Amino acid sequence: MAVDSRWLLEQFQTVFGGCSGDEVWISRAPGRVNLIGEHTDYSGGFVLPVAVGHDVAIVFRPGTDRIIRLYSCDYRQMSEFCLDRILTSTDAPWSNFFRGVAWALSTHESPDGGLNEGEDRGSNNCEIEYELIGLDAVISGDVPIGAGLSSSAAFEVASAFALLAAAGMDTVILNSLESECGLNARRRIALACQKAENLFVGVSCGIMDQMASCMGKAGHAIYLDCRSLRHEPVELGLDNADAVIVVYDTGVRRGLVDSEYNRRRQEVETGAKMISGILRRSDVHTLRDVDFATFQAVGEMLPSKVARRCEHVVREIRRVENGVVALRQGTLDTFGDLMWESHESLRDLYEVSCPELDMAVRIAHETDGVLGARMTGAGFGGCTVNLVLRHALPDLVRALPGKPMRPGALEPRVFKIDVADGAKVRRL
Ligand code: GLA
Repeated sequence: MAVDSRWLLEQFQTVFGGCSGDEVWISRAPGRVNLIGEHTDYSGGFVLPVAVGHDVAIVFRPGTDRIIRLYSCDYRQMSEFCLDRILTSTDAPWSNFFRGVAWALSTHESPDGGLNEGEDRGSNNCEIEYELIGLDAVISGDVPIGAGLSSSAAFEVASAFALLAAAGMDTVILNSLESECGLNARRRIALACQKAENLFVGVSCGIMDQMASCMGKAGHAIYLDCRSLRHEPVELGLDNADAVIVVYDTGVRRGLVDSEYNRRRQEVETGAKMISGILRRSDVHTLRDVDFATFQAVGEMLPSKVARRCEHVVREIRRVENGVVALRQGTLDTFGDLMWESHESLRDLYEVSCPELDMAVRIAHETDGVLGARMTGAGFGGCTVNLVLRHALPDLVRALPGKPMRPGALEPRVFKIDVADGAKVRRL
């Protein structure tokens, strides 16, 4: 689908006035659906997201001062700030993602943009350190908000692309998904966006969403190593198998996500520390360093809840590796089996599912021609992702609930996913 650029340009003209002869640009960045590898990114594990055809788009005109003027078409609200004093807004909380990215791109106290010492993340030094300038911008998105499809990462990445293009960064580099330099720049952008979300917005997310929005490739899943930030696009082969990816939004939104998310992070960090202590292995930093045999040897010595959390992560990391093998061999049914397993593990061991997600996965399981389904994203509501043979799609759509499933929930929605490229910016 994606936001229509002509419509957004009209909105820009209505809000900021005529622009004939002015430099007007558009940046856009996609949301993501994670196929497998849930709650593994902050343990340095593997993930396998796809960037989707739904995105956040920003039409903007570079300014001559240091003032950023934003208008959100979705919230119908203006928000303005100066680059010399970037503060969070309580009146227009949506603007904090843009503010946070401007802040992260302007603070260079960590020259590696948060990269770990000694890690090889590419030899070319494609800096993203530019003197930012002001701009006028209108923003709109069609990534459902709060549904676990990373509307916030899409907004952050689109904001970074707008700010950097306005500041004069070479758009050939910015738009390159092939060159080493372009990829290095995108890694740095993803890290800056994560920093914005962690330190400015105050949500301790991992790196998956921002990397997926930056690195997405049409027709491919992004096999991402969240420790090294190296990634490989893996062809999905959906057409060969006559299969489609379908997202079911349960319409359930839970406010608990942030606190429970942080608690899970703590639990697995505690687990990794305990395992390192029990084994006297200083090379165990995160659960990425623990294989299943090692986990089995020490699992009983951990408090049972911590053990359940760790078991999920250790096995989920392995499922991603197996999933990539299955995709490469063109065995989508094997991939689907890993998705069912992943959901069970998220439900029973990591405990981040909810009854509506479980029901949607159960219905998918009972529908012939659905190869696999699982909750996707942080959990506690939001969406399931389904790998479905095309002929089975009408049956699945008929079987899934179409009415809000609890008081306050939104109407559920089903949509077929187009697997898209990562963020782009261009002159209109
Ligand atoms: C959210 C976070 C990601 C990741 C997922 C769970 O989407 O933003 O970093 O941790 O949850 O896999």
